[in-house]
Amino acid sequence: MKILTLDDFDTKSKTIFLRVDMNCPIDPATLKIIETSRIRESTESLKDLEGAKVVIASHQGRVGNKDYTSMENHAKVMSEILGRKVKYVEDVIGSEAQREIKNMKDGDVIVLDNLRLCAEENYEFSPTEASKTIMVQRLSKLFDLCVLDSFPSSHRAHPSIIGFAHVLPACAGRLVEREVRKLDEIMTVAKGPHVVVLGGSKVVDRLEAIKELIQNGRADQVLLTGVIANVFLRAQGRIRSALGIKREDEVVSKAHALIGEYPDVFSVPVDIAIERGGKRIEMDVREMEKGDQILDLGPKTVEYYLKSIQSAGTVFMSGPAGFFENENFKFGTESLLKGVANSFATTIVSGGHLTAAVKRYGLSDKINLISTAGGALVLYLTGAKLPMIQALEDAATRYHSK
Ligand code: 3PG
Repeated sequence: MKILTLDDFDTKSKTIFLRVDMNCPIDPATLKIIETSRIRESTESLKDLEGAKVVIASHQGRVGNKDYTSMENHAKVMSEILGRKVKYVEDVIGSEAQREIKNMKDGDVIVLDNLRLCAEENYEFSPTEASKTIMVQRLSKLFDLCVLDSFPSSHRAHPSIIGFAHVLPACAGRLVEREVRKLDEIMTVAKGPHVVVLGGSKVVDRLEAIKELIQNGRADQVLLTGVIANVFLRAQGRIRSALGIKREDEVVSKAHALIGEYPDVFSVPVDIAIERGGKRIEMDVREMEKGDQILDLGPKTVEYYLKSIQSAGTVFMSGPAGFFENENFKFGTESLLKGVANSFATTIVSGGHLTAAVKRYGLSDKINLISTAGGALVLYLTGAKLPMIQALEDAATRYHSK
């Protein structure tokens, strides 16, 4: 590994900036955290940081979205998981945060508020620019070491991901160390055909990565589910009314171009399930009416997708295939995951929601790699150098050249 880990540093009595990814699914009505795996995983490095002063920083949601909340509940959940005090500080870079950090004692753990409350954290920068942001300038002087452990956001060139690492000694946390090692091992044995089962709601990100995956031989077949399937169905004219998603015209025309360029690669659902009067109703996609919201795949689609999965050398599944949290609409996600788990292929499952589904169906032991990362992992598989990994490699080079 070309990056440093916690084994390379003596952290006792040091003040540590620990960037984790506690971006969790949130119930839009109650703003409660629905699924807490990422918080649990964010505690992984803490046992190696006993005796240090640890300042935990994360984002939650995107500004303007329904899952954009403070980190107060995350700190509470973390405290319950650890069975010890974790103090929530309702500030990111202001005088309160700075005072709290300066007053910490060895063994203290605090959680700062949502990093994206700070405008700078919503933009991408070069490492030098990121190191000049007010966030990094104000806070970096309070820290001895930057520990990057937010693999799911390693594709974001934000100040917290690449800025601190540019001015402080920096290493990977245990989660990033484990994920990167496992991924590198898996990618050396992964064989074709490569089947990608692609869902999730971050359509813009996925469309950008899809072409790279195909061009780099990582996607011989792409089986579409979730919102991205709707976008392709719309591009094919099979869904006639607008989907009502962000940047719809742009994403639909990108999907249209991809289908034209790679006509044999993409598969879209032929039948789906919607909700009427609280019941699951299955239908052919061509029977859908204006306003119908696809909540799951239908049986014909699942059968067809399972055949592709069974003949794959490597399967990568990202994002759930429907609203599996509701018993009426778990069929597609559960069936495809079971197909992936029981296939002879090398299997990778990624993303916060889908990894929760893997656990729910008791399939964790049957998947080769379960990654907390969604979009970051898709990009990693394209062969792209992720900004966080680059920042860690640069920090390691600086460390060794001293
Ligand atoms: C994720 O859930 O993929 C990460 O937390 C990154 O979130 P983002 O796509 O809002 O940057």
